[in-house]
Amino acid sequence: MTIKSLFKNYLNPCRTLLGMTTQDEQSYFEKYACTNYSGEGEIVDLGCWLGSTTIPLAKGLYKNPNPKVQSRKIHAFDQFIWEEWMDDFVKGTQLEGKYKPGKSFLEEFKKRIQPWSASVKIYAGDLCQIGWDGKEIEFLLIDAMKSWELLNAIISKFFPCLIINKSYIVHQDFAHWYTSWIHLIQYRLRKYFKLVHIIPNSTSFIFKYVNEIPKEMLNMNYSASSFSEEEVEYAFEHSINLVSDKFTQARIASAKVMLFIHLDNKARAKYELDKYLTKGLPLVSDLKVVKERLT
Ligand SMILES: C[S@@+](CC[C@H](N)C(=O)[O-])C[C@H]1O[C@@H](n2cnc3c(N)ncnc32)[C@H](O)[C@@H]1O
Repeated sequence: MTIKSLFKNYLNPCRTLLGMTTQDEQSYFEKYACTNYSGEGEIVDLGCWLGSTTIPLAKGLYKNPNPKVQSRKIHAFDQFIWEEWMDDFVKGTQLEGKYKPGKSFLEEFKKRIQPWSASVKIYAGDLCQIGWDGKEIEFLLIDAMKSWELLNAIISKFFPCLIINKSYIVHQDFAHWYTSWIHLIQYRLRKYFKLVHIIPNSTSFIFKYVNEIPKEMLNMNYSASSFSEEEVEYAFEHSINLVSDKFTQARIASAKVMLFIHLDNKARAKYELDKYLTKGLPLVSDLKVVKERLT
């Protein structure tokens, strides 16, 4: 299996900045920072890679006329350590072959954000170790919830700083086959967030924070076993019903199949895959990837 599909299900041909975002996502982030961001809390970018989220946010910040935002920064978090799957995303660019797995690409990130460096604060390291100083967060862009451990770190360190009726979180992986836990946690926290936008041509779903999450829910150590069989069913049904197009539904369905692959229950994963295909969901790339994993 190539990792073309491990973290994103396609290599976007119309991107303007090197990254795993689409043009629509880049435009959305720039527009948000320019026109919607009020400066009441911080902008935090989790899993910024080569800056294709950070740069549009910083560009937007520069153009935002509100004096309250002038001193604000984009807080960019990443471990900046090259992984083999990243190779596919830089094929045909000047970065092809430049980094071997395990090497730091922090200098490349710095180079790319250089024109906006005064507006970017870099946090290099493992998100599970790095803390957050407790400042209020107005915009939390999440593209690093790649495991239960990272989910727990993000929920316990960053979610407590969201501002009710003000903050937005972006799940860049909401419609991605790998990150099944996002559906379980968003369902568990559904009373506290409201889906407000899905960025077209992307896997990014944006939720507004609307009710205070009880502290004990933020400090739990979540894992697959925290969710009953019934809750898993409701969670994926809920996520699938957030959208009406069959392609996005199929992508979300693939995350359910993946949940059982992660749990080493291939029989159940196969049952889920067959169920969704029988129901008429198209065999999109994400479902193909999980199908491949089952054979
Ligand atoms: C899918 S990539 C992000 C792509 C980027 N958001 C974009 O759209 O161009 C996920 C990022 O999360 C980072 N990451 C993975 N695990 C991490 C961890 N434990 N701590 C910090 N960053 C991590 C990776 O280094 C990688 O840059």
